[in-house]
Amino acid sequence: MSAIPVIAIDGPSGSGKGTVAAEVASRLGFFLLDSGALYRILGIAAHKANIDLDNHSQVADLAKTLDIEFGSAGRGSVMLNGAEVSREIRTDLGSDLASKVGAIPAAREALYERQLGFRKLPGLVADGRDMGTVVFPDANLKIFLTASVSERAQRRYKQLIDKGIDAILPDLLRDLKERDRRDSERPVSPLKPAADAVILDSTDLTIDEVVNKVLNLFAAQTG
Ligand code: C5P
Repeated sequence: MSAIPVIAIDGPSGSGKGTVAAEVASRLGFFLLDSGALYRILGIAAHKANIDLDNHSQVADLAKTLDIEFGSAGRGSVMLNGAEVSREIRTDLGSDLASKVGAIPAAREALYERQLGFRKLPGLVADGRDMGTVVFPDANLKIFLTASVSERAQRRYKQLIDKGIDAILPDLLRDLKERDRRDSERPVSPLKPAADAVILDSTDLTIDEVVNKVLNLFAAQTG
C-alpha cells in the first residue's frame, strides 16, 4: 500500500458524495479529487470542439491535451484552457455529456493517469464512480454513498433552484434514472461498490452525520 492515504467515496449522482468528500478533505487537510468534474470538463470541451462522441479516439486525444486547473476551493473554481467553466460543467448538459464520455473506455484511460497525480501527501479524498474499484484500489477507506432516487432528485432540484436555475422535478428524476442506468450498465468501470467498500445510505442522514461517520471510519482504519 502507498504511504499516501486515500479515502475513496463513490456513489450515484445526488448521494451527497461531492459535498461529503470536500468536507472530509477540509477537516483532514487532505487534497480533493472531484473526478466527476474531469468527465464534465471533457464532455463540455468535446461539445465546444464539435467532436462527435462516437469518435472515441478523438475524445481520448482531447482528454490528453486538456488544460485543467482546479481552484484551491476544490469544488469551486474550475478552469478549462484558461477560461472559467465551473457553472457550465454543472448544468444538465454538462451532466449528460459527462456520463456519455464516461462510457468511452479510451477516454477513461486518458483521464486515469491525471487522477493518480492527485495523490499527494498528506493524503487525498477522491470522489466519483470508480475511485475504490479502479483508480485507487488500494485506498485506505472505501465508501459507497447511496440515497433513494427520489431523495437524490429532490436534492438536485433544490440545488438548482437555490442557484437560480430553472428545474422541473419529474424531468430531473427521469434524467437521474437514465444516468444511473448508463453509469451502472456500462462495461468499463461501472458504478458499483468495491468488494471492501462500506455502504452508507444518506437518505435520512444530514451531511454532517455522513461526514462524521466517514471520519470515524477513517480514524478506526488508521488508528
Ligand atoms: O460525480 P458527477 O455527477 O459530477 O459525475 C458526472 C458523470 O461523470 C457521472 O454521471 C459519470 O457518468 C461520470 N463519472 C465517471 N467516473 C467517475 C466520475 C464521474 O464515469 N469517476
